Amino acid sequence: MSGPTATSPVRFDPARGLRGTLRVPADKSISHRAALFGAMSSGPVRVRGYLHAADTDSTLAAVQALGARVEPSGAAGAFTLHGVGLHGARELDGPINVGNAGTLMRLICGWLAAQPAGAWTLDGDESIRSRPMRRVVAPLRLMGARIDAREDRFAPLTIHGGELHRIDYASPVASAQVKSCVLIAGMASAEGAAVTEPHPSRDHTERMLAAAGVPLARDGARVAVSPVDALELGEVDVPGDLSSAAFLVAAALLVPGSRVVLRDVNVNWTRIGFLRIAERMGARIGGELEPHGGFSPGEPVSDLEVEHASLTGTTVDADEVPLAIDELPLVALLGCFAEGETVVRGAQELRVKESDRIATVVDGLSALGADVEATEDGFVVRGTGGLRGGRIASHGDHRLAMLGAVAGLASREGVEVEGMEAAAVSYPGFTADLATLTAR
Ligand code: S3P
Repeated sequence: MSGPTATSPVRFDPARGLRGTLRVPADKSISHRAALFGAMSSGPVRVRGYLHAADTDSTLAAVQALGARVEPSGAAGAFTLHGVGLHGARELDGPINVGNAGTLMRLICGWLAAQPAGAWTLDGDESIRSRPMRRVVAPLRLMGARIDAREDRFAPLTIHGGELHRIDYASPVASAQVKSCVLIAGMASAEGAAVTEPHPSRDHTERMLAAAGVPLARDGARVAVSPVDALELGEVDVPGDLSSAAFLVAAALLVPGSRVVLRDVNVNWTRIGFLRIAERMGARIGGELEPHGGFSPGEPVSDLEVEHASLTGTTVDADEVPLAIDELPLVALLGCFAEGETVVRGAQELRVKESDRIATVVDGLSALGADVEATEDGFVVRGTGGLRGGRIASHGDHRLAMLGAVAGLASREGVEVEGMEAAAVSYPGFTADLATLTAR
């Protein structure tokens, strides 16, 4: 692995096996929620293990701008958050910069719309400005919110606080960001809210709100929340991020001679779709995974043990897509090495991630020698037992950058990744961790 400057391509050579034990970075989704729900709390909230990466640093900066106070407590990622309460967000002179963080952008809209008065403008980088915001603007407007958006659907958005009404929203997309936005607006309004998704998505919002004393009822893919005056969160321990772990799991599965142990990974069933898919393809994953449909106010954690395996192709359908949404690029990579065909369908949401992940994954892997084809809502990979290698661009998308790196370790000729620095959005030490696991 070498890279003289941050912006020149970084080369990942074929590896002889990944070995070792490590702790992956803290969960990005749970960190965003810890900062946001901590800021909405009235009493102090002790946070341990917060992810310090570009996206989640944007969330901490945003809540501080809105009046929350962060009191560091020594250890990395540990601090006490002194919030402003559910209805105490401070008005600002300029816009809130969400950077690249879609979760921050979409969740904070629900909170700001439920403020008794005031107006806030939210803006971010070029990628955020091209991502769909009508999916949160529409339900909030149905609740009575006033929101201005560029071309009525893109950032920057201006959210006006005011009185909101109850909604029983049938979301057209399975999206935890949309669901969370509506639930937050509902609990902070006088009337509550309910959301039904086409298929259940990650439920960290529900678990953290339940832990904070918010009355929630879940029935299949429908979640209802009642209004509250205050959140009583107390403390949040952020577990390791399954989405970050997934890149190391994939590398260990693909590179012969590998065996890695990943400590304290979140194994909430709404997040482990990738592990289930990999198991179906032939992987043996050690660790106690939460059974499908589980729910508790906390987050389940386990150590994962993975070793190299021979894989066969599989099919991923729409109901499994939200449970593995950020790991579907890795399913395509596994498919390149598997025997037979790997098909992902019902995954059109991939087109509106940090990049169009159907196009960028298919183009990227094709350039490395894969037999892969895009469909409207996913991709089809014909496994050839390996990957030649070559050059791949991240398009500023952290998960593409890490995909390229893993592809390099498992390839015959190595891979150069353009824009590797994008990995810092969720996994700042990724290249270093790969180096540790491949060092002999
Ligand atoms: C996230 C939800 C997912 C996921 C994103 C984080 C969250 O997005 O892709 O990385 O923290 O709620 P959608 O809700 O848009 O599917």
